[in-house]
Amino acid sequence: MGSFYMDCNMKILISIILLWFASFALAINTKTLAFGEAYSKLFGHHNIHLSGKDRHVRLLLDRSSGSGFISSDMYQYGLFSASIKLPSDYTAGVVVAFYTSNGDVFEKNHDELDFEFLGNIKGKEWRVQTNIYGNGSTSRGREERYFLPFDPTKEFHRYSILWTNETIMFYIDQTPIREVRRTETMGGDYPSKPMSLYATIWDASNWATSGGKYKVNYKYSPFTSEFRDLSLVGCRVDPIQMLPTSSNNCTVSNSDLMANGLSVMTQEKRKAMHTFRENFMSYSACYDTLRYPEKLPECEIVEAENRWFKENGRLKSRHRRRQKSSRARFHTTVNSSLGQKWVM
Ligand SMILES: *[C@@H]1O[C@H](CO)[C@@H](O)[C@H](O)[C@H]1NC(C)=O
Ligand SMILES: *[C@@H]1O[C@H](CO)[C@@H](O)[C@H](O)[C@H]1NC(C)=O
Ligand SMILES: *[C@@H]1O[C@H](CO)[C@@H](O)[C@H](O)[C@H]1NC(C)=O
Ligand SMILES: *[C@@H]1O[C@H](CO)[C@@H](O)[C@H](O)[C@H]1NC(C)=O
Repeated sequence: MGSFYMDCNMKILISIILLWFASFALAINTKTLAFGEAYSKLFGHHNIHLSGKDRHVRLLLDRSSGSGFISSDMYQYGLFSASIKLPSDYTAGVVVAFYTSNGDVFEKNHDELDFEFLGNIKGKEWRVQTNIYGNGSTSRGREERYFLPFDPTKEFHRYSILWTNETIMFYIDQTPIREVRRTETMGGDYPSKPMSLYATIWDASNWATSGGKYKVNYKYSPFTSEFRDLSLVGCRVDPIQMLPTSSNNCTVSNSDLMANGLSVMTQEKRKAMHTFRENFMSYSACYDTLRYPEKLPECEIVEAENRWFKENGRLKSRHRRRQKSSRARFHTTVNSSLGQKWVM
């Protein structure tokens, strides 16, 4: 039994490594932007530091404030992408978010697509959460949480949100980690109004780490998150008139979006996605039958995933142990085979 698990783990491990690295061969073919080309400061101006010809943005959180930036325009469908490095050391209560939203314009029926990075106490891993809201569906959280196959505080990794009129995909580097295909039954829950891109760092002491048990400890501040390779492709839209802005050609931007390799889900990518989810996902609203006795309309129940989750959508402890050893081995293997690049 034990050795069966080993073999199985080892096989999965090797396939993750191969998929993760094979996928690097495909470059994201969108051009990167300087800050002033498409983004503006949003809050905590003194904690936003630009360098490298304005292509490198540092967002700081200290006692005085967090900080954040926003895209200068709103987009109806798009690809939003950045290489991000998270603050290291003790980061409990700290949240770094990279997301699209229109909450400032549509207060009661906003849309949102999130990457949220949840800090942790020293020595414990960061976790990543993805979420989707459409037309004010805030009572129907669609959270998923994952561990990461690398240390996000040591290296930049690329996080991308792809949003078309038919599909939403979250990518980490070149690996899709979540796909939500629009279904008719989702109705307004599928985000479809123009959104802005946001990047922020803030104090979420009341919920981020173990439900608020661990607060931000400013002894370790400032907490610095770094962003570069900013890119943004999409149709710029005036949010009030819901029409393309005059200087914009949406035919071109939409075909850019569709032509971008990221919008296509190949067999290989789907396999990489399932492998990632089996090994790194720790919670999914789709498997949370206590919260959603009737499953959310877009959820596709994957049996291989389903059997590892309890009715509260969290991992069964047996699988948690298996994931943990798989992760530990992933890190060690990667470390020894690739030198410093992926060192934990
Ligand atoms: C999405 O857009 C494409 C091209 O603009 C169109 O052909 C297709 O019908 C749209 N799909 C939906 C669900 O609106
Ligand atoms: C979105 O919400 C508004 C206001 O609640 C409602 O009038 C509209 O029909 C909704 N749109 C969709 C597509 O469900
Ligand atoms: C948008 O670009 C396409 C392709 O270059 C072109 O055929 C079309 O006329 C343009 N539309 C506008 C409104 O400029
Ligand atoms: C990773 O490799 C370095 C040297 O290449 C070594 O010092 C370190 O202990 C290794 N870390 C792990 C977790 O194996």
